[in-house]
Amino acid sequence: MSRLNVEHASATHLTAVGRQLLAFAGCNYLGLSQHPAVVQAAQQGLARYGISTTASRETTGNTIEHDLLELELAMLTRREAAILLAEGYTANFAACQALSRTHGVAILDARAHRSLRNAATAAGMQVFEYEHLCPKSARWLVDQHADQGVAILTDGVFAADGAIAPLADLLATLPEQRSTLLVDDCHGLCVLGPRGEGTIAHLALPDDPRLCMTTTLAKGVGCYGGAVLGSTPFIQSVRRVSDVYRRSTPVPTPIAMAARAAISLMRHDTSLLTALRENINAMRQALSAASIPTHADPIPVFTFTLPSQDQMQAVHDFLLRRGIYAPLIEYPGGPGERYFRLTVNAAHTLEHIALLRDSLCLAIEAAGASPAAP
Ligand SMILES: Cc1ncc(COP(=O)(O)O)c(C=O)c1O
Repeated sequence: MSRLNVEHASATHLTAVGRQLLAFAGCNYLGLSQHPAVVQAAQQGLARYGISTTASRETTGNTIEHDLLELELAMLTRREAAILLAEGYTANFAACQALSRTHGVAILDARAHRSLRNAATAAGMQVFEYEHLCPKSARWLVDQHADQGVAILTDGVFAADGAIAPLADLLATLPEQRSTLLVDDCHGLCVLGPRGEGTIAHLALPDDPRLCMTTTLAKGVGCYGGAVLGSTPFIQSVRRVSDVYRRSTPVPTPIAMAARAAISLMRHDTSLLTALRENINAMRQALSAASIPTHADPIPVFTFTLPSQDQMQAVHDFLLRRGIYAPLIEYPGGPGERYFRLTVNAAHTLEHIALLRDSLCLAIEAAGASPAAP
């Protein structure tokens, strides 16, 4: 499999093999990765702390920046407490290490991110799958295993098909005791909810101690790292029992400072989120003009296939010749083995999106390819 060797990146463009391309790629949904305030915070952090704490937080590797970032993440997502992990992937491992003390069974959406499955398996939980987005299928499994303690594990937003998980219905399948709904909101944070709080706020779920969340700081927040968020007792148990947390070095302090700056921007100013939502609408119209079916949710990810592999490659190459990078990827959970996964972010302009629309219409016509729905 080939991969792109990026030589320079802004929120909207990347340079590869010496060519600058307009990119509809990645998960930098608010463009925060290159935001001057975020970059400046990282630079200040480098000057003050150096690169790494070189120790785990429970020995000598904790800083006030890590503590404050946890508080601010909890406030943003309206969870009681948060704990930082090195990545979103390891956040799922930490959550499952804590859950496995009281929950013997993990019930996963069939298209849940691979890290959730790996985390539950590594934690020694028995793993079962329910039909993608189907609470009825989840309920059947919950009823079978309720006496062992059950956790439902799902993505909040499925980045490969743009679907939002039916969290209220999933929560309703769970018994009151020894049960948890763990939402991996890597693609919902900074995208959904009035201030980018994520899928739980978007769906206006009531407070519930059975609800917890994991996330990455490497997508919408534009930085690096991960977190588990939930009730205070649950987060305390992650801190107490999770080896992934206890025996590893935290996110570098300059990155924690950058993430704090990114979250502060989001909390005090909704203009980035407004720009993202306007661009999602413009993108939907642009793809529709090229006869590409789209979802109706405010999600910046658009996936689709064309009738044949040759046509997909031809469209991809046509766009590339016109200076547009439209990722054609192989990744589990999408509408095909290989599919287009285009993302739009808050930094794209309407001119960028119009250029994509016009080029895509020409590319599809030249390839004689009518797209298939996700
Ligand atoms: C749904 C989901 N969960 C977890 C992860 C892992 O996050 P990170 O890249 O921070 O390890 C990703 C990233 O690709 C993801 O999309």
